[in-house]
Amino acid sequence: MKMSLVLEARHIEGGYDLGSSFLKAVDDCSLYAYEGEMLGVAGESGCGKSTLAKLIMGLTKPPLRLVKGKSIIDDIDVYKLSWNERKKILWGKVVTMIPQASMNALNPTKKIKDVVFDVVREKYSTPPSKSEILDMAKKRFDEIGLDPVALDMYPIELSGGMKQRAIIAISTLLNPSFLIADEPTSALDVSTQKLLLELLYMLIKRNIVKTLIFISHDIATLRQICDKMCIMYAGKILEISDTEDVINRPLHPYTEKLMESVIPLIPSIRKKTLKGIPGAPPNLLNPPSGCRFHPRCRYAMPLCKEKEPPLREAKKGRFVSCWLHLG
Ligand SMILES: Nc1ncnc2c1ncn2[C@@H]1O[C@H](COP(=O)(O)OP(=O)(O)OP(=O)(O)O)[C@@H](O)[C@H]1O
Ligand code: SF4
Ligand SMILES: [Mg+2]
Repeated sequence: MKMSLVLEARHIEGGYDLGSSFLKAVDDCSLYAYEGEMLGVAGESGCGKSTLAKLIMGLTKPPLRLVKGKSIIDDIDVYKLSWNERKKILWGKVVTMIPQASMNALNPTKKIKDVVFDVVREKYSTPPSKSEILDMAKKRFDEIGLDPVALDMYPIELSGGMKQRAIIAISTLLNPSFLIADEPTSALDVSTQKLLLELLYMLIKRNIVKTLIFISHDIATLRQICDKMCIMYAGKILEISDTEDVINRPLHPYTEKLMESVIPLIPSIRKKTLKGIPGAPPNLLNPPSGCRFHPRCRYAMPLCKEKEPPLREAKKGRFVSCWLHLG
């Protein structure tokens, strides 16, 4: 049975207006996610992971701007909606992002239930009553294993793990089909991270959300929960495949290097020679010609400098953007 497509992001291009210049942080990125799928997005800091997530869900608040492309979430064409329409019908109800550094995003002067009231009221012209909203919140808190007494607490009274659960409960209160979690575990200790991963997994298994994109630079974390992995570099998607293929049989030379850098966590690639990736990621204001990885690639050929490799299906279900694999 063919699973239904929840996200269809096609040729997304966008970036930041910086006075006289434009920093293209995301360039021609296409991404698809099906119901029941957990998709990991990995790559070095600054490669455009968070920007891609914002462009996918239409969070184009200046200086961020979409230049080209299309994002369809649950049959809704995001950029056909005005900002106000996105606020009313899209964000929270169809797609939600747990933003990077969200642990500090809860207002310390507001009880959790007041945050819940604000979030729900913003979405309805005739909002449900306070007691109806509280009932919804209690149910969701219960479902994700957080005692509903937390609703009567201030953020400072919650532990790191409880705060993260509260954020997830609030984010999913209106049953969005699609959840984007941007580095949700990076501020947590190891055992809280583990609980959070189990929680995200449970959201999918119980069908609370249909699809989840998990952004992280931590391959070992992504491996624990993601079915598929997407590797980004300098604003581009270089490879998308099943997680174990990406880790054990990477096709793109950059992915290969990235996996070598996580050797202690992944025994199966321990045998490979460990070499650093010479050079630094490119300046996005003036990226290299052709393949953006060519100045650092050990396999670079003359063609790589001249022509940009498209992202294509090189083997069944394995997408890669590298001339070595595009015959
Ligand atoms: N508000 C902004 N204004 C200008 N440039 C920005 C802004 N936010 C991000 N950038 C730039 O866009 C590029 C991509 O940034 P982005 O935050 O999407 O990367 P990331 O992969 O999420 O990094 P990290 O792993 O550190 O979160 C970087 O060069 C960054 O400096
Ligand atoms: S296209 Fe060329 S430079 Fe780019 S990763 Fe492949 S071999 Fe290396
Ligand atoms: Mg980021």
